[in-house]
Parts: sequence; C-alpha cells; structure tokens
Amino acid sequence: MTVMHSNGDIPHATDVPNCTADLSIEDVKQELYNRHHPSLTFLDIEAHAKTIHKIRTLKQKHNVVMLGHNYMEPLVFGLSAKEEQGDSLGLSMYAANTEAPYLIFNGVPFMAETAKILNPSKTVLVADKTAGCSLADNFGAEDVRELKSLYPGAPVMIYINSYADAKAESDICCTSANAAHIAKTMPGDTLIFVPDIFFAQNLEEELRGEKNIVYPGKDNMARGAVCEVHEKFTLDDLISIRESFEIPKGHAHRKLYAHWECRPDVLKEADFYGSTSQIMKDIAERVAENELERAFVASECELTSNLAQEFPEVQFWTACSVRCSHMARVNLNKITNILEAIDQKADISEFEITLSPEIIDKARAPIERMLEASA
Ligand code: 13P
Ligand code: SF4
Repeated sequence: MTVMHSNGDIPHATDVPNCTADLSIEDVKQELYNRHHPSLTFLDIEAHAKTIHKIRTLKQKHNVVMLGHNYMEPLVFGLSAKEEQGDSLGLSMYAANTEAPYLIFNGVPFMAETAKILNPSKTVLVADKTAGCSLADNFGAEDVRELKSLYPGAPVMIYINSYADAKAESDICCTSANAAHIAKTMPGDTLIFVPDIFFAQNLEEELRGEKNIVYPGKDNMARGAVCEVHEKFTLDDLISIRESFEIPKGHAHRKLYAHWECRPDVLKEADFYGSTSQIMKDIAERVAENELERAFVASECELTSNLAQEFPEVQFWTACSVRCSHMARVNLNKITNILEAIDQKADISEFEITLSPEIIDKARAPIERMLEASA
C-alpha cells in the first residue's frame, strides 16, 4: 500500500453552488481555484474548466439531478450540490423523492439500480454501465436461494451493494449506515446476512448476544464476497500507519477511521468505524469542537480527497493505491457524453438503467422496508 501525505494548511473550501445562470468559464475556474484543494493543481483546473462549465450548464438546462457518491474524485464530486452528495443510504433517500426527470448517478450501477427501483418513472443514467463491484458481481439470486434453503425460516438481510435480482429474493436491505439497527428490528434469533463476509463478521461481533448472524462461509459452503478495495487494509498496515503518522490508539485529537467493509481485526483497531457519511460526520463534529488535528481513513482514497477539501484544518493521510477501479470509471468526459445525448435528444440507452417491472416490484419491497426501518 502506498501512503501519501496531504498537508491541510489551506483555507476552507467553497461549495460549488447549483445555480449556474450566466456562469462563465472564468467563473468556473475561479470557483475551482477558490476550493484550494490540496490535489487540484492549476493544470487540472485549466484543463477541465471548459468541460465542467458545459456539464453544469446542461445539468441546469435539463433539470438533471446529479447524485455523487462520497468516493467520486473531487472534480466529479463537486458537480453535485451538497444535498446531492452522500453515502448509499443518503443517496437512495434522495433518489426516492426527487421530482427531476433525469437522474445521473455518479457511482456504480447497483446504486443507480436502487434509484430506478425507488423512482421507476424517472430516467436513471450512469456514466459507465459496465462498471462492477466485487460484492455485487460475485453474488446473485441463486446464492440467496441456496442460503435460504440452508436456514429455513430465517429472514435475509442483504447489503445494498448487490443487484436487483438478489435483492428481489431478500426480506430487507441495509447499508453500512444502518445495518446494526435494521438487524435488531428483524424477527427471530437468526438472521442471514449477505453477501459481504467481512461486513457479516463485523455485524456478528457488534450484535453478539443479541442476534445470531449467519452468512456465506460460516459453517456452510455457500458463496459470499468481499470488497476488493477494503480487503487491502490489513491489521499490520493499520499498526504501521499508527506508528508512521503518530496516531496512537486513544489519542484525543488524532484518529484512525475504518469502513464497515474492512476486515474484523482492522475494524477493532480503528478509533471509529461507520459508513462513508458517518465517518464524514464524526470528522465534522470533531472539527467543529476544534478536536481533530490528524486522521487516516481506511477506505477508498477519494473519500479522503473530498475530506481534505472540506476540512483543510485537519492533516489527512491517504493510501492512494487503495482506489475502487469501478467507481473510478466515472469521469468528466463520460458525464458530458450523457448530457450531450440528452441535449441532442439522441439515443441514451448506452447510459440508461432499465429493469423489468417484475424485478422492480420484487426488489422494491426490501429497499422500502429498509427506508421505513431507518426513518
Ligand atoms: P457507503 O457510502 O454507504 O458507506 O458505501 C461504501 C461503499 O463501498 C459503496 O460501494
Ligand atoms: Fe464495490 Fe468495494 Fe468498489 Fe464499493 S469500494 S463499489 S464495495 S468494490
């Protein structure tokens, strides 16, 4: 793992406003310079300002909602207004309630599928329909059915990082922001959790004595999956990060964060774990209290890039080799292609998420149960 230092000695970032009326390319450049982003050089700004201007103009012209997952690289992330940015749970909630005709989801296709299921009358588009996810790609409806036959009567809670056909076979969905809470609302002593094996082990630990969590590979031969990004962090990595960056365990102002998808021993070593937005919220609260000077986040590295922009008073380190190649397929040029196709009334099928009405109906129930249980 390559670990980079990001120095936070810069002023506060300026949020990109959603209103672009009469915005010139020079205005866009100025906004980008005003961000003072540690990894945004003048070369990036000069090279991309024209494209960003075009995207923002077309976004406004066609009343497009542009959802941005916290793992998007800063220039893509900044295309989304603050309320359009977030973790899987926040973005699903936003997608369910939007009235806009077009929804571009800057994330991976399983996320866009969730948006389509919750709001099927809208046109939901993604920059790259071929982008995958090691969790969703390696677990399907047949795998859910196999586990159900092994534990008859036990409800199935499926992580949102899965495709619609697998969700359609499950009782309830969850995200990393609400898994423990949702699990406790489920009937019975035993709960099947799929497909993420590390997440399941972390949940098992968290709910020890309250719920018996069963999952692929636990006393069975069923197939499960892990996140190929978060599995890169090992306990040894975390211990050496603590030593090299002087973030001792329990330090009042220096914190080590981890995402739920990390290995159980990595989660135990962290000072805080949660979803991407929960990590951001904890950092924001500590910054507001003037209580955070240094942090490392064991998650996808662009999350740290976005944090470094938002909280320049904190020194962040990031492992730049820990990138999600699937999330990284979303880029400014592909987003421009979608918007140009909309503008020219051209064929958008290359970008559009489509699901059969039957799958939408079956997959909506577990997602809506999750949203009700998290309200
Ligand atoms: P959250 O933003 O919901 O924490 O999800 C992280 C993730 O890995 C999505 O692929
Ligand atoms: Fe999937 Fe992991 Fe990438 Fe998230 S970070 S999209 S879980 S591979």
